[in-house]
Amino acid sequence: LARPRATADLTGRRVVVSAGGTREYLDPVRFLGNRSSGLQGYAIARSAAARGADVVLVAANVSLPDPAGVKVVRVETTAQLREEVVTAASGADAVVMAAAPADFRPTTVSDAKIKKATDGSAPVIELAQNPDILHEISHHRSRPGSVVVGFAAETGDETGTVLELARAKLARKGCDLLVVNDVSGGAVFGSPDNQAVILAADGAAVDVPAGSKSALAQVIWDLVVARLST
Ligand code: CTP
Ligand code: CA
Repeated sequence: LARPRATADLTGRRVVVSAGGTREYLDPVRFLGNRSSGLQGYAIARSAAARGADVVLVAANVSLPDPAGVKVVRVETTAQLREEVVTAASGADAVVMAAAPADFRPTTVSDAKIKKATDGSAPVIELAQNPDILHEISHHRSRPGSVVVGFAAETGDETGTVLELARAKLARKGCDLLVVNDVSGGAVFGSPDNQAVILAADGAAVDVPAGSKSALAQVIWDLVVARLST
């Protein structure tokens, strides 16, 4: 059943969406990366624009065409993603962190291509932890009443179920909404469909049944609009 919606309910709002997965270079040709396609973030940016928002989409290594009416800023590394998101988030009404930033980067990036050793030995790659962009954005809001949305892909483990880990992550990050994907099956990557539970800092939990990534995007914006200060 189609629900009627105020189609332009983001008119006059400035929103920032991140999408894709960051790359952390070892040398000029090699990097550590992840499987994020950027499809969900692009769907979120597209629906925000369709609902009237002024949208900045910070895209990390996404091979998708720019959505119409959206300002796209392309980045590669987590450091670049942080820089562009923090800049665009200044004064924004909402920030949605749909990107998958690499958690770690090599402590040193070689200027020259790393060569194989002749004795058959392999290098050990030392890693440093990357800054947590969502945590920073949530805890240093440039605009009071802005809404910050995070994503979490969880499998559940011996320390907790998917939802228990997600509740703890929501509290730790300090965001208002957390879109939780159960990735036990590894199915969401590159798929046009998604299924999620959206947890809110006020205790609410909204089940989003399996459907398109744009259907999930619409639910996210419904929840954001309901929390935006007037
Ligand atoms: N995130 C971020 N900066 C990072 C890592 C993650 O902003 N360096 C954001 C992601 O964009 C996402 C949310 O934080 O919206 C949760 O990402 P996730 O990888 O689940 O969180 P982590 O804190 O990295 O926890 P984990 O150890 O489970 O990977
Ligand atoms: Ca992570």
